[in-house]
Amino acid sequence: MRFTSLLAAASLAVGSAAAQTIKPANYDESKVGSHPLPDPLMDHDGGKVTDAKAWQSRRRAEVFELFQTHVYGRSPAKPEKMLFEVTKSEPKALDGKATRNEVTIYLTGKKDGPSLSLLVFVPNAAKGPVPAFLGCNFNGNHAVHADPGITLNTRWMRNSPDKKNVVDNRATEASRGSEAGRWQVEMIIAKGFALATYYYGDVEADHAEGWKTGLRAALAKDGANTQFAPDAWGAIGAWAWGLSRALDYLETDRAIDARHVAVIGHSRLGKTSLWAGASDERFALVISNNSGEGGAAISRRDFGETVAVLNKNFPHWFCGNYKKYSEHPETLPVDMHELIALAAPRPIYIASAEEDKWADPKGEFLAGKFAEPVYALFKKAGTGVTDWPSVNQPVGDFIGYHLRTGKHDVTA
Ligand code: GCU
Repeated sequence: MRFTSLLAAASLAVGSAAAQTIKPANYDESKVGSHPLPDPLMDHDGGKVTDAKAWQSRRRAEVFELFQTHVYGRSPAKPEKMLFEVTKSEPKALDGKATRNEVTIYLTGKKDGPSLSLLVFVPNAAKGPVPAFLGCNFNGNHAVHADPGITLNTRWMRNSPDKKNVVDNRATEASRGSEAGRWQVEMIIAKGFALATYYYGDVEADHAEGWKTGLRAALAKDGANTQFAPDAWGAIGAWAWGLSRALDYLETDRAIDARHVAVIGHSRLGKTSLWAGASDERFALVISNNSGEGGAAISRRDFGETVAVLNKNFPHWFCGNYKKYSEHPETLPVDMHELIALAAPRPIYIASAEEDKWADPKGEFLAGKFAEPVYALFKKAGTGVTDWPSVNQPVGDFIGYHLRTGKHDVTA
């Protein structure tokens, strides 16, 4: 998805950052430049991590801390009390093939506090608890499948360019199933998996001021008047935190095998799934689809979108400290191969699209490639290749990668 009008609106909203001039995107590989990447195995004191135990007990926490401080910000702990309410249940959804539930998750354990609505499809053919895919959606649960029984989301949403699906920042009936191609509910159910998803705007509306009516203000001491610390969480942190709360619910759902939940996301929500997988090691598999800059793509590569562009157009996504790296991303104390490495030893899958040059498909591959030394500590094979694979040649074992033909999207 490209949101040009939102970009314009968001950049006006950021004051001094908006004054910064952004150079045109580079799409010439010969001009990418070369910057050495930080070594994920070099610990804070300059020592080398040589075994899995040292990674797990020491170095992993250091790398995670750097991402919290400089990139995504610090998220709060799990609330002491959680409250879940199944608000709707249809045992014969999808022509009887699935049970469809809607669950309200009260994010602070209080009914008058912020909440998200989780849509869960479980295959009726299952003989026991099933593994699940969990991810945020862009347009409301009702957009994930045309099933008229799914509750229409009534929260703020970005207007749709078709002037039909979302009008005056509210979803219309016309938008039912509008995102279905990205979710493949029937296929997932036929393969014996469950699918759980929530609308990311339930947690925070995706614009520079969205936090004021979202989870971050609800949890802040001074609410919408809060001045966030430079390492406080941004919107991506909040959306990812919502995924962990969704997993808290799935752990209580007896139809779900919560030890086998894959966290998945596309684009900005792919950045979100990577951060959720890094922050919450209960996720068994991490999937990034076209997550690009600020996601899987190496930040030091000047190709397509840059840190400067992200900070200018989406100032609310990352923490305040991230703004320091707009001009010189090579001074970031981490890079995205280390975000991939935070998934280790769990499997991770990075999906790129050939025409999605904005997301720097090669940079997404390289992040997987350069995470391999960490997987090697666990004796797990990575991408299994030395060079960026050609289109439609999926590679990899514990670090999977493919470059699909086509545009920025999720396809079957
Ligand atoms: C914009 C943004 C990307 C983001 C994408 C999306 O293109 O620049 O960083 O991934 O939107 O979320 O669709």
